[in-house]
Amino acid sequence: MLERLQALTDEALGLVQGAGDSAALDAVQTAFLGKKGKVQAVLRTIGSLAPEERGPVGKAANAAKVEIESALGERRQALIDAAEGELAETEWVDATLPPPASTGEGRSGGTIHPITTLVRDMDDIFASMGFEALDGPWVEDDYHNFTALNIPPDHPARDMQDTYWLSDGNCLRTHTSPVQIRAMENNKPPIRAVCLGRVFRHEDLDATHENTFHQVEGFYVDRQVSVGHMLYVLRALLREILEEDVEVRLRPSYFPFVEPGFEMDVTFRGKWMELLGCGMVHPKVLEFGGIDSSQWSGFAFGLGIDRLVMLRHGVEDLRHFMSGDLRFLEQFHGGAEG
Ligand code: DAH
Repeated sequence: MLERLQALTDEALGLVQGAGDSAALDAVQTAFLGKKGKVQAVLRTIGSLAPEERGPVGKAANAAKVEIESALGERRQALIDAAEGELAETEWVDATLPPPASTGEGRSGGTIHPITTLVRDMDDIFASMGFEALDGPWVEDDYHNFTALNIPPDHPARDMQDTYWLSDGNCLRTHTSPVQIRAMENNKPPIRAVCLGRVFRHEDLDATHENTFHQVEGFYVDRQVSVGHMLYVLRALLREILEEDVEVRLRPSYFPFVEPGFEMDVTFRGKWMELLGCGMVHPKVLEFGGIDSSQWSGFAFGLGIDRLVMLRHGVEDLRHFMSGDLRFLEQFHGGAEG
């Protein structure tokens, strides 16, 4: 019986040495050490041996198990080492080489979208003036997009904003103004907030109309806020963005959520240009936001970001921005971090 065990061990060790992968090693393990394996079969016969033989055979069987197990372990490790060594040969990277872009091959670095760059710049300017940047949902409900902004159902002002209505009665927000309402719902006055983001309108597309564009909404509520405060903030903002001292003028205009309402024009490169809508927050809007309009007042403004980016970079067609055309985007190397 002892010879039989020795023969089994030798056979197993031979197979282990010859195994080329872990599946082959698993097979050896099952065949020799498994519950129905060959070593186990020997152990099962112990009962039929003469009593004085049982001890030595049991010991020898256990020793055989240990030997085969350790040979399996070593061989497994050797196979792993060999595989890794091969990877190191075939997949190595020379980390001291310059990146592919600078050798003129392979991937080139990306660029920051010019709208993103302007949004980031504005975020910084507003932060420096103490405005908190807020976000709002793109899918808005009727209440926030219209009603709470003093645009009740059937109000003609709804027609001015061609709206994508969804089948559940919600819409894609047509402007960033609903964030005013959300700001009041979530904060107590005084409030200084901005929202920079995407808005959607069902427009006929041409060089100056897109169905997806970007707006900044500014919202300021405090005690005894006046048009003077609004002018000061807007002028400071425009000076920073346009990087020159601009002249501004206000023209009376109508937006349901402000009273009085204005349009602001700026001089840019010697010409008057219509830039944004603004005004003193309508008392009804404050009340919709849960703010006592006899105690608090405020101003709000909204401007299109895309127009400003067009001015900044001399872009002639608004549709480039959302086109995903790399030839357009690649011109903006050297943006924020580009
Ligand atoms: N929400 C307006 C629009 O998209 C823009 C606007 C005008 C916003 C006047 C304002 C404002 O906050 O006071 O046409």
